[in-house]
Amino acid sequence: MTPANPSELILPDLPALEAFGRLLGRQAAAGDIICLYGPLGAGKTTLTQAIAAGLEVPVDQPVTSPTFALVHEHRGRLPLFHLDLYRLGDDEDELLELGIEDYLHGEGVCIIEWPERLGALLPARHLEIRLAFPAPPAPTTGRVIRLYHRGR
Ligand SMILES: Nc1ncnc2c1ncn2[C@@H]1O[C@H](COP(=O)(O)OP(=O)(O)OP(=O)(O)O)[C@@H](O)[C@H]1O
Ligand SMILES: [Mg+2]
Repeated sequence: MTPANPSELILPDLPALEAFGRLLGRQAAAGDIICLYGPLGAGKTTLTQAIAAGLEVPVDQPVTSPTFALVHEHRGRLPLFHLDLYRLGDDEDELLELGIEDYLHGEGVCIIEWPERLGALLPARHLEIRLAFPAPPAPTTGRVIRLYHRGR
C-alpha cells in the first residue's frame, strides 16, 4: 500500500540527480537500507554511484552494477553493499546462500536495485525511492523521484 503523500522531487537533469545522491550518501547511517525501484535505465545505478560518492567511496573503486555477483562491497566512510537482484531467480534459498541477511542487518549501508525480488526478506524499515521518467515533452535527462520512509 502506498501512502498518499510521498516526497516528490523533480530533478531536471543528471547533475541534479547526482547532487541529490551525494546528499543522501552524506546523510546515510549504519544499517540504512535504500531500495531503488524504477524501469530499466531509470538511473538506479547512476544514483547508487552518487550515493557512494557521498559515502566517500574512493574514486578508484568504481561502482558498477553487480549483475553477475549480485552484490558488490565498497569501503567508504561506512561499508556500502550494492545489490542488483535483476537476474535473481525466484528462489529464496539463492538469497539466503548469498548471505543476504548479513548485508541487510549489517553495519553498512545497503542499496538494492530491483528490491521487489526480496519479497518477505525485505526488512520493514527502509527508504523506498521510486525513479521515473518525466512525462513528454520534458527532456529524458530529467527524472521524477518519489521517497517513502517505510516502517517508521
Ligand atoms: N537525470 C538522470 N538521472 C539518471 N540517469 C540519467 C539521467 N539523465 C541521463 N541519465 C543516463 O541514463 C542512464 C541510466 O542508466 P542506469 O544504469 O543508471 O539505470 P538503471 O536504472 O540502473 O538500469 P538497470 O535497470 O538496467 O539497472 C545512464 O546512462 C545515465 O547517464
Ligand atoms: Mg542498474
